[in-house]
Amino acid sequence: MDKLYVFDTTLRDGEQVPGCQLKSEEKLEIAFGLESLGVDVIEAGFPVSSPEDFKSVSLISESIRNSTICGLTRAVEHDIDVAADALKKANHSRIHTGIGTSDSHIKFKLNSSQEEIIERAVKAVSYARNKAAEVEFYAEDAGRTDNEYLARVVEAVIEAGARIINIPDTTGYCLPEQFGDKIAYLVNNVPNIDKAILSTHCHNDLGLATANSIAGVINGARQVECTINGIGERAGNTSLEEVVMIINQHENIQVSHQIDTRKIVPISETVSEMMNMPVQPNKAIVGANAFAHSSGIHQDGVIKNRETYEIIDPEEVGASGSEIILTARSGKAALNFHAKKLGYQLDQDGLKIAYQHFLEVADQVKAIEEGHLHEIFQNIKVVA
Ligand code: KIV
Ligand code: ZN
Repeated sequence: MDKLYVFDTTLRDGEQVPGCQLKSEEKLEIAFGLESLGVDVIEAGFPVSSPEDFKSVSLISESIRNSTICGLTRAVEHDIDVAADALKKANHSRIHTGIGTSDSHIKFKLNSSQEEIIERAVKAVSYARNKAAEVEFYAEDAGRTDNEYLARVVEAVIEAGARIINIPDTTGYCLPEQFGDKIAYLVNNVPNIDKAILSTHCHNDLGLATANSIAGVINGARQVECTINGIGERAGNTSLEEVVMIINQHENIQVSHQIDTRKIVPISETVSEMMNMPVQPNKAIVGANAFAHSSGIHQDGVIKNRETYEIIDPEEVGASGSEIILTARSGKAALNFHAKKLGYQLDQDGLKIAYQHFLEVADQVKAIEEGHLHEIFQNIKVVA
């Protein structure tokens, strides 16, 4: 099975989110968590952007031994020099340099031409080549870049020495089929593609970041760039936890990874707390409701067999377990389940009466608390 490299950019793309900024010591703590989670590459920051970010990348570089440490740059020699300096103590270092390749970026952002962009890309990669163990090139806004031109850029930067080629869907524009076709096009049309690994870096503006990344992997990408909890610019990046669990669930996606999935929920909580960024309750894998069942039909199924409504064992991702939440939509099975948990044995009639009482309370309150349940059950005849 091919290895899928997991590239985490929580500390760079994720940290760009307003309010998520971290001090270097905080970034280091998350970096240790990411290393222990098993990520292959930690993008630790954008060293030229600020003295504190330079410090973060340096600190992480000297402290992390197993994961590759990556620093972002523009296709600018000064950026590359600063990144190389910040990465100098890393065991495995990577410079991530690149430039916009879509018509919109070339015309409006860079006021340049397609040929000049290739020249600048090649120059940056050639310059970075001897300044870190490896060079990754990003073709910014590749999602909206013409495939034929993109293939020319990719061929040129591989020739110049880039060994990882990042194909970002910077604006989250692509449909999964389009993004998959883009990766397949590069695999089939770049003559020296065997010398490099293709990477996905998808944004979530249309809620398709994970689907696009998976489409990329199915079509030949072997590195996925992602963040914990899917944080990142605007609507965020691909979620690490989603990609990893999709691969675990679907054996037909023939790639392996080294993520220790039991550490997913703990690191999700750490990132959320440290970055002051709450996780939406219905977030896949790590949301508070990811393993919570509240409707009577579902609860009845889960109480009989967890797998009726859960495709992932919560323990597999480090969550505390499945939950049966009581609401006015819950059924008798769920109420009885809670009664037993609290030590009440109800007979059929007792359960019926308790349930009527329960519905009256549940219709009035937002959340049923243990106190409500004791009140309900204490008035019912308990079976000996
Ligand atoms: O979204 C993007 O294109 C990026 C690049 C800098 C890799 O974050
Ligand atoms: Zn990005």
